[in-house]
Amino acid sequence: MTANLNTYETVRPEEVKIWFKTAAVSKFPKNGGACIKYKDKQIAVFNFTREGSWYACQNLCPHKMEMVLSRGMIGDENMEAKVACPLHKSNFSLRTGKHLNGDLEAIATYPVKVEGDFVYVGFSE
Ligand code: FES
Repeated sequence: MTANLNTYETVRPEEVKIWFKTAAVSKFPKNGGACIKYKDKQIAVFNFTREGSWYACQNLCPHKMEMVLSRGMIGDENMEAKVACPLHKSNFSLRTGKHLNGDLEAIATYPVKVEGDFVYVGFSE
């Protein structure tokens, strides 16, 4: 599969048409991420236990086009959840996708919900 930024576009909660069932909550590391696949997309899903929140974004880091963001450290900056790419530490907001320590293109983010002990990611198609 070729890494292509055009594959990824932010989905807002009101745009969700499909809630894709990923895996049980227990499959996601606490305060860490895991990668899921939906169609041709690799999506990083984060279980931000400290905050009691879940986030999802493209797994593709726009810096060197590497599928690595699910392995990044999560934390927060000014109360905003973020992920740091494990390769060269680009930080992205998990809420807006914005590149927080540079001017790379924002990453796509996706809604997440937990229902009946399963984690779902929202897609518009
Ligand atoms: S590949 Fe992610 S910061 Fe370089």
